[in-house]
Amino acid sequence: MFFPSANPWVEGDTLGEHLESRGVSRRDFLVFCGEMGAMLGLSSLVTPKMAQALSQVRRPSVIWIQLQECTGCVESFIRTSDPSIGDVVLDLISLDYSHTLMAASGSAAEEALQSAMQQNHGNYILVVTGSVPLNEGGIYTTIGGRTAKTILEEAGEGAAAVLAVGACAHWGSVQAASPNPTGAVGVDQIIKDKPVVNIAGCPPIADVITATIFHYLTFGRLPELDYDKRPMFAYGARIHDQCPKRAHFDAGQFVQRFDDEGARKGWCLYEVGCKGPATFSPCPIIQWNDKTDWPIGAGHPCIGCTERAFWDTMTPFYGRLPGVAGFGVESTADTIGLALAVGATAGVAAHAVATGVHRVREKSGKQLPIHPDNGKEG
Ligand code: SF4
Ligand code: SF4
Ligand code: F3S
Repeated sequence: MFFPSANPWVEGDTLGEHLESRGVSRRDFLVFCGEMGAMLGLSSLVTPKMAQALSQVRRPSVIWIQLQECTGCVESFIRTSDPSIGDVVLDLISLDYSHTLMAASGSAAEEALQSAMQQNHGNYILVVTGSVPLNEGGIYTTIGGRTAKTILEEAGEGAAAVLAVGACAHWGSVQAASPNPTGAVGVDQIIKDKPVVNIAGCPPIADVITATIFHYLTFGRLPELDYDKRPMFAYGARIHDQCPKRAHFDAGQFVQRFDDEGARKGWCLYEVGCKGPATFSPCPIIQWNDKTDWPIGAGHPCIGCTERAFWDTMTPFYGRLPGVAGFGVESTADTIGLALAVGATAGVAAHAVATGVHRVREKSGKQLPIHPDNGKEG
């Protein structure tokens, strides 16, 4: 296990010293480390070591830029349940630029961005929400007279790592839906020479963002990623394989209309459009808003928002996924999942293959299905 004894991030107190000065107790810090470790799929036995390592690092400079987007991802992030926004912004990281969260505006905000990039050149974590419109010279999103592409290229140049947060930054999301009038693309289509992590979802679960930063600080490297640059600890398992309605799916008990008896009984939402069999996300486990609920828990089908191009490949949202002849108690998750995936897209099919790989590994005892990184850290 690699724990950095020092890091190149911002000058000043270590995180441990900073937390002490802020009155954060050792116990609360250990609880936070334990929860982050659990999210990463790590044993609670390594919590004290992680806490020790994390307390010795200096808070990283984080620059957060927002491009062509709706601000929903920032709204989601500031509702992170643990730690609270105060803990994240003031304690774990040094948020040196965010035009939504900072007090400055206009030219003062632009100067703050330039200053933060210069002072932390080569060391800061760049968080990006929003897509990059390329058509018409990029005029569809300009800030301070500069296009989103220019802003991203400048900010990316001095970054140590880049987190593309949300479907817009991941691949373009609704703006990139056919016919994609603005020519929207994701961050990794522009930044090719830096590690880019896609925190998928529209919006993503805030705790996944926090856990990714936690991993980076604690282990000195980014978490293991899947074929679409998404962290495996969060996107390594299908919703369908973690869903509390799965027993109804296997029993052939389906909601046919949102006001029918099946809906009242909480049956499976596959027939009314659920894309959970073709979607990889931790929503059933981590959930939203302090674990109060998630789309399927609230009676709404998953629309596949963590999957690339879901506006084109997962629509109509209330239509059944194509290519499935029928199923019931005789069907297995793998036969159904594979059939669905083949009927959808290449990206979805790749996921079905990934599921098969996970299952084979699980049966062979070589690797756990949800978090393949599990055990390798130790
Ligand atoms: Fe908004 Fe969704 Fe884009 Fe986030 S990913 S900025 S919530 S449209
Ligand atoms: Fe859950 Fe959707 Fe799968 Fe039904 S189809 S079990 S609601 S994920
Ligand atoms: Fe998105 Fe489906 Fe979760 S729509 S929020 S991946 S349940």
